[in-house]
Parts: sequence; structure tokens; C-alpha cells
Amino acid sequence: MTTLAIQMTGIDKRFAAVQANRGASLEVAKGEIHALMGENGAGKSTLVKILAGLQPPDAGQFFVDGREVTGWTTPQALTAGVAMVHQHFMLVPTLTVAENVVLGREPTHGLRLDRQAAVQAVRDLCQSSGLQVDPNRLVADLSVGEAQRVEILKVLYRGAQVLLLDEPTAVLSPPEVAELWGVLRRLQQGGATIVLISHKLDEVMAISQRVTVMRQGQTVQVLDTAQTTAAELARAMVGRDVDLDVQRPENQAGKPLLRVTQLQVQGSRGQPALLGLDLTIHAGEILGIAGVEGNGQSELLDALAGLRPYQGSIKLADQELATLSLSQRTQAGLAHVPEDRHQRALILDYSVADNLILGKLAEFSRRGVLDQRAIAAHAAELIAEYDIRPTDPQVPVRGLSGGNQQKVVLARELSRSFKVLLAAQPTRGVDVGAIEFIHARLRQARAQGKGVLLVSSELREILTLSDRIAVLYRGRIVAMLPRAQASESVLGAYMTGAAQAVTHG
Ligand SMILES: Nc1ncnc2c1ncn2[C@@H]1O[C@H](COP(=O)(O)OP(=O)(O)OP(=O)(O)O)[C@@H](O)[C@H]1O
Ligand SMILES: [Mg+2]
Repeated sequence: MTTLAIQMTGIDKRFAAVQANRGASLEVAKGEIHALMGENGAGKSTLVKILAGLQPPDAGQFFVDGREVTGWTTPQALTAGVAMVHQHFMLVPTLTVAENVVLGREPTHGLRLDRQAAVQAVRDLCQSSGLQVDPNRLVADLSVGEAQRVEILKVLYRGAQVLLLDEPTAVLSPPEVAELWGVLRRLQQGGATIVLISHKLDEVMAISQRVTVMRQGQTVQVLDTAQTTAAELARAMVGRDVDLDVQRPENQAGKPLLRVTQLQVQGSRGQPALLGLDLTIHAGEILGIAGVEGNGQSELLDALAGLRPYQGSIKLADQELATLSLSQRTQAGLAHVPEDRHQRALILDYSVADNLILGKLAEFSRRGVLDQRAIAAHAAELIAEYDIRPTDPQVPVRGLSGGNQQKVVLARELSRSFKVLLAAQPTRGVDVGAIEFIHARLRQARAQGKGVLLVSSELREILTLSDRIAVLYRGRIVAMLPRAQASESVLGAYMTGAAQAVTHG
């Protein structure tokens, strides 16, 4: 048998009361693309961080290329060519792409940074890997997808042969995902070994050779991708069948709830981002917004939520929102699941219970004193309903896995008494079982006569949930289609500008 690139056995890791890994194992052959799957909180990120040297295990051993490296540090892992690809927030926004890539390992000319050499090194890496990004651009000006390319270039520059990617596609648009697959296949052909954490079954089916499934900190199954199906994978993860293509009952949309007319909004660099947009959300309706990221979605959500000034009119049940503060908007009946949960939806050092009452304090205070009992009861109820793990309401949200943090935001916003919900990427980072549950809750809101604005980079999610679908392209709605007239290919044509503007109904 050939030596394994990665072999981890009996890995234990505990955080306070939570056993994140218990006897976990992982075996990856050289040159393999290996997927790591499992429910939110199963221990995937923890296991991979241990392998990358970000944290030591409490027990167990691990080997890279047959050499024991248990408990090594990040610099040691990097020297051995093992690197984790981080999300964009690890980059320095005020530096260029080239400067970020070489940071800490700069080519020098005498004592100074050799800028020419850095730019050339990045060009060469782009050439060999197939990643495309201009070395001279500022990181602050990059899209999320481009920033991620820089993260990958950075680890390649350091000579990584084993790449660990934790949900790399969660923030990518479909064309960017296709590009990433091209890059990973090319790296694989060059001999690299890749571990990919993902909740997306179709991705794992498309790109991996084998899949390790974790549940509650343990490794429960290792499957050959070619010998399995997406449905089997889902069952292995959550222990039951999952149905993500529920048939939607027909719905009679009611009166207009939210009316947007001639909305004009500027982007963060002052550029026009929305150019006079009109839309209406009716009671009992889910309106989906499709579009390649960066075509005005964020500005639309920000304007609706009160996070960005605008011109034009936004009326919620005949009340103009322009002059209302954030909390007044909440009172007027607006709920909001923002795209960036860390920045805008959670206070990471507060407990789960306290995060669950943000924006609802009035309901939990009596004569100015917080009713701790009611807060605890409210938390216990939502933790059970949304299956938030761990179940202790007092743990700080910072200690929750990514998917469980997202569940906290959804639980809080969906349990408000709202008229209209703004849902941006509501299932980003959550496991298939949780996606099924969240979709059911969005449909329930619709059945109760509420309005939902759904912005998602997943076309399948838009198509399964929406009654009508608007396509945003360069700051305008270029198509407004009833669900029956939409499909991935029709939407795709409008999203890329290939099809011309039309509106039906
Ligand atoms: N730094 C930490 N402090 C406290 N608890 C932690 C910490 N890191 C992880 N945990 C806990 O360990 C468990 C496993 O977390 P981990 O992030 O590995 O899950 P995951 O499988 O990556 O989940 P997800 O799919 O949601 O990202 C979780 O219950 C989490 O709350
Ligand atoms: Mg994780």
C-alpha cells in the first residue's frame, strides 16, 4: 500500500462542555480530492484545524506522508506543505494582491521589497494554477470570489501540497464555483492532495473521489463517491431521508405589503448601484432575487434594512421607511436575516440566549428590568425548535460552529412578529437537514400571509421557494418572471446579460 498523505486516528478535542471530536479519524491518499461532510457541529472544522496546526488535539495521533506530526504548529505545517485556505477576511485590504500573496515571505532587493519580483511570482502562479486575478489590484476592491483566489494563491506561493478548504464555495457564485473546480483539478493533476469541507451534495458528488462523514465528533462512514448517491450521502449525514425538492402548493398572493418605487442607491465607493428599481412584495408571497453577486443585491437589502441611504420610496404597509431607525423598522414589521451574520446579526461574545433576544428587549423587560426567566425559556424553546447545538443557552455564540451561528440568526428573526422578512442567503453554511427545516419555515411564513424577499446565490433554492423571481443585472431588474416561466437556464441568460429585459406580471 502506498503511504497516505494524511492519516489521523483517535482524535479527541474538547471545548469546555463540548466534545468536538471523539476518536475521529481521517485517511486521505496522495493526490486525492477528499470531501469531509456532516451535520452542523459534527466537528469537521475542528478536525481540519488540528491538522493545519491551528489547535492541538487532546488525544490521538496524526501523520503526514507517513511522518508523525501530532500537535504541530501552523508554521511547521506550512513548512511541510500543509495549509488551510481561509476566507477573505484574513487578507490585508489596503495592500495589493501581490503584496498579500508574498506577505511574510517577500522577495527582497537589498533590504527592500522587490515589487517587480512579487508581481512576476504572482503572474507565474496564476499561469500554472489557472487562477485569474490582477496582481496590482487592491484587495479592498476585489469581490469575495476574487479574494478567495488570492487566499489560494497565498498558500500555493508557500509551496502547499496539501490544501485544506473549509466551505470554500459558501460565498461563491455558480461560475466562480465552476472555476474553483477547474483549479482544484489542475492542482490535483500536479500531485496536490485536497480536503474539502462542504454541505453541498452536488458539489461533493462532482469533485471528490471519496467522502468521510462525521457525526457528533466521530467519523461514521467513508464512501467512494462513484459508488454512492447524493441521497445516500444525505442519509449518512443526518441519519434519515431528506427531501429538498418539496412540491409547492399554489398560493393566491394577497395585498401589497412592501412597495419599492424608483429606488436609487449608491455602492460603498459612491458608484450608482441601483438605478431606479421598482418592486412589490405581496402578502403570502416569496419573491426571489436572482443575480450574480455584485449586481445590486447587497445595496437593495441594505436600503430596505435601513443600513444605507437611498432615493425613491420604500413603503411597508403604506408607511414610508426612509425616516425610521433600525428598531422602528423592526417595530413596523420588518425582519432581517443579513448576508454577513458576523458583522450585522450576532454579537459573538454574547450568549446564545442574549443573541436570541436582540431587537426584542421590550418583550423581555418589566419596568426596565430584564426578565431572566422569560429569556431562558425563550432560548430553550428556540434551541429545541431549530436544533441549535450545543444546547446550553449560556455559551457565547463565538464558540458555535458556523452553521449553528446561522441557525441562531434565523431562529431570532423568524420568531419575531414580522410582516416582511428580508432573507439573504438564509441557508448559507447549514447542513441539508437544516436546509429542509428552514425552507419549511419560509413556506410557513408565506402560508401565514407574510411576505418574503429571498436573495440567494443558489438558483435551486430560488426556484424551489419563490412565487415570482426578479433578476438583477447591473442595478436593474431585467426580468420579473412567475415561477412557472423560470428555469436555471432562463434565469442564467438574464443573469449574464445574454437575454434582454422583459417583464411579465
Ligand atoms: N473555539 C471553540 N470554543 C468553544 N466551542 C467550540 C470551539 N470550536 C468548536 N467548538 C464546538 O465544537 C463543536 C464542533 O464544531 P465545528 O466547528 O468543528 O463543527 P462543524 O462540523 O465544522 O460545523 P459546521 O458545519 O456548522 O461548520 C461545536 O459544537 C462547537 O460549538
Ligand atoms: Mg465548520
